[in-house]
Amino acid sequence: MAMIKGKVIRGNQIGRTIGFPTANLLVTPKEPSLTTGVYGVKVLYKGSRYNGIMNVGVRPTINKEDLQIHYEVHIFNFHETIYGEEIKVNDCFFVREERPFDSINQLVLQIKKDIKFVRSRFLLQSEC
Ligand SMILES: Cc1cc2nc3c(=O)[nH]c(=O)nc-3n(C[C@H](O)[C@H](O)[C@H](O)COP(=O)(O)O)c2cc1C
Repeated sequence: MAMIKGKVIRGNQIGRTIGFPTANLLVTPKEPSLTTGVYGVKVLYKGSRYNGIMNVGVRPTINKEDLQIHYEVHIFNFHETIYGEEIKVNDCFFVREERPFDSINQLVLQIKKDIKFVRSRFLLQSEC
């Protein structure tokens, strides 16, 4: 299990408009310590722990040029704006590989399934 620490930065806001705001993380060091993909995660922020889902990757559906690895977390039951704050993220379990989708719509449908899967998995086993 890896622990990623990062400062929350503004993404290009597509997440927000499609119904699941994500915290985009500026991670140091730059080297990815996780293989790309989608993970069930625990987020530590100001002394509280939250469940969430994280994508680590290049976001091939919306992004064709820049191959930089992005860390994006959607935190469940969390509605604060935390740009500039630091959070810690622990990966608990791997969900799937990141992949290109033919449309944003299809990506959104898949992410909704991923969120359901991760929520139910945390109901079965909340610790990791
Ligand atoms: C749980 C989750 C899974 C994701 N899976 C993929 C994926 O398989 N392929 C992909 O191209 N992008 C994937 N993304 C990235 C989305 O394209 C990205 O979050 C969205 O465009 C919003 O980015 P923004 O916050 O910078 O606007 C995923 C994001 C999340 C949160």
